[in-house]
Amino acid sequence: MTRLALRRPDDWHVHLRDGAMMAGVLPDSRHFRRILVMPNLVPPVVTGAEAAAYRARILAAMPPGQDTEPHMTLYLTEATDPADVVAAAASGLVTAVKLYPAGATTNSASGVRDIDRVMPVLEAMVEADIPLCVHGEVTDPAVDIFDREAVFLDRVLDPLRRRLPGLRVVLEHITTAEGVAYLRGAEGMAGTLTVQHLMLSRNDLLAGGIRPHYYCLPVLKRASHRAALRAAAVSGDPRFFLGTDSAPHPTAAKESACGCAGCYTAPVALACLAHVFEEEGALDRLEGFTSLFGAAFYRLPPNEARITLEKGAPWTPPRRRATGAGPVTLFDPGIALEWRVVE
Ligand code: DOR
Ligand code: ZN
Repeated sequence: MTRLALRRPDDWHVHLRDGAMMAGVLPDSRHFRRILVMPNLVPPVVTGAEAAAYRARILAAMPPGQDTEPHMTLYLTEATDPADVVAAAASGLVTAVKLYPAGATTNSASGVRDIDRVMPVLEAMVEADIPLCVHGEVTDPAVDIFDREAVFLDRVLDPLRRRLPGLRVVLEHITTAEGVAYLRGAEGMAGTLTVQHLMLSRNDLLAGGIRPHYYCLPVLKRASHRAALRAAAVSGDPRFFLGTDSAPHPTAAKESACGCAGCYTAPVALACLAHVFEEEGALDRLEGFTSLFGAAFYRLPPNEARITLEKGAPWTPPRRRATGAGPVTLFDPGIALEWRVVE
């Protein structure tokens, strides 16, 4: 197969940042019709009013002709007002609430330390049918960084779901076989998968030299976990869908003695996914993963428009995206890309 028509994909997890960085990276999401925009700005997007202002800034930065629709999230804090969340969702402004355990990742300092303190918000979300997107890692320094997702399932997620079985939860950027197994048995849940976790393992990050542009959180795991993620992605199980977690940082902040977490995958995400699904003999399952299952989870209709992917001579993406906040290094998939979106 050398041509593939898909319904317009959606990206159910993306970091756009703000200001000059946002203006520089927003065009790279142009093939996606809907994007779920993460709220971990500094300061974070906590209230409905803050989400409305952020959405207005995104729309103002959208290049003419780009019709990507931002779907907004609220950053859950222990001071979040349940009534504000419910009103923001009821008005259509907000699509989901994001739970960051405090200290788990980039700009998560205002996140949740004690889940008991956000129970009133979560109960209101069950009532109002608002999904919770979860960064699923414990922050306990005694837990090895490679185990933090699996431990989160046992210590935090499973007890939470027993307390609130009606809560619709998206386990974001799943990185482990344990995460896949947990989701397979879970009603009312979904999980997003990123490009880098489908393509790479921790050897790519660490063997033969440390590659800061492959460092993200949750950190890449061993190859057997990648195999489980790939199997989930191509399975046709609607619980698994695309959230790129494309996370731009200035190159200097990544190539540093203490580099930031995040892979900037938006510009190459669809080309990479076509490669992965073709390798798995599952190109016919790509559309469900990129364009149908996420919309269904968020109770939205599938996009009507189509895009075409074409396979041809290998192409090399640019190494860097220039932005007003400095250059951002693109994710290098480490393979010759043959698929591309027909513009
Ligand atoms: O690698 C990551 N980068 N993981 C996250 O959870 C946050 C993100 C970011 O905001 O840079
Ligand atoms: Zn993220």
